[in-house]
Amino acid sequence: MRHIMVLNAKGGCGKSTLATNIASYFATEGASVALADYDPQRSSLDWLKRRPADRAEIVGVAAFEDGFRRVPRSADIVVVDAPARSHGKELAELVKHAETLIVPVLPSTIDMQATTTFIEELKSVGKIQRKQAKIGTVANRVRDNTLIWGDLDEYLTKVRVPYIAALREAQNYVRAYTRGLGIFELPEYLAWPDWEEWEPLTAWLRSKRSQP
Ligand SMILES: Nc1ncnc2c1ncn2[C@@H]1O[C@H](COP(=O)(O)OP(=O)(O)O)[C@@H](O)[C@H]1O
Ligand SMILES: [Mg+2]
Repeated sequence: MRHIMVLNAKGGCGKSTLATNIASYFATEGASVALADYDPQRSSLDWLKRRPADRAEIVGVAAFEDGFRRVPRSADIVVVDAPARSHGKELAELVKHAETLIVPVLPSTIDMQATTTFIEELKSVGKIQRKQAKIGTVANRVRDNTLIWGDLDEYLTKVRVPYIAALREAQNYVRAYTRGLGIFELPEYLAWPDWEEWEPLTAWLRSKRSQP
């Protein structure tokens, strides 16, 4: 059983958006997927409620209530949506549950600043130091040709954590969430630019590079 956690102490950076899309990606690829929501805001579980019954099944787990106890033993992949504001002991505890960590970052000075602190904190967690979990960053809600996007791109290249993908700001994410789908489940004519942007992320997730 493999655990992929999406986390950043900063709220609103796209944790739930990434978690739901990763879950939908592996489910549509035929894997048995559980989506564990650690965030009492329940965005991932609310998305699952919207999911049409005829789509690839994803089992929801209210991890903020009782942890991983209800994750089916048969799950191949557990995608974990982490809560904002995780620090210190709580963060170390959270990270125990995953071998792959994805940190989404917005093109905003406040977010980059907060993420610098967060990544330093993450790197000080024993499990990360022992290389028992791999971290990757993802730029999210990118708008081409903005100065701040140039700054984020440069920042993520320098931060000394693998920089995996950049995802544009797109209504497709809002549209997909509303329908309980991932962008991989939207029609190709609408979603192909997003599919292309996800390619490096899904390739990383499938590869050994994202696993200890
Ligand atoms: N790439 C994107 N394009 C457009 N909207 C996005 C994108 N990523 C996230 N959003 C929107 O930004 C808001 C915050 O994203 P969310 O995934 O809920 O963040 P978090 O879980 O980190 O708090 C949501 O309204 C979501 O629909
Ligand atoms: Mg969320």
